[in-house]
Amino acid sequence: MEDEAGSDGWIEVAVEADLPERRAIRAQVEGMDVFLFRTADRIFAIDNRCTHQQGPLHRGVVKADIPQPTVTCPVHGSMFWMTDGRVVRGPASRPQPVYDVRVTEGIVEVRPR
Ligand code: FES
Repeated sequence: MEDEAGSDGWIEVAVEADLPERRAIRAQVEGMDVFLFRTADRIFAIDNRCTHQQGPLHRGVVKADIPQPTVTCPVHGSMFWMTDGRVVRGPASRPQPVYDVRVTEGIVEVRPR
């Protein structure tokens, strides 16, 4: 798989067919560590390393069936919205960086928002 950022900033992170539904995975590409979570109609992508102390969010609990889907860090329990990375519950005080996501010919691409 190509792993170079195109001139428009999109970076290939996964093959869509390999992306499980409703189970978080991480994609490590170009020094990025991206949390990916797919629902029936959407793919969320945020930084995988918690802004508090770098906890691995892909090992955290995801609640996807609520108006604002959340992920909870497995280390100290910070909770973030998966839509925009905002902190719902600390100890984290900084939001998670979020990526825009698109699928092009079966390839999942992200771009820092
Ligand atoms: S590392 Fe995530 S809450 Fe502390």
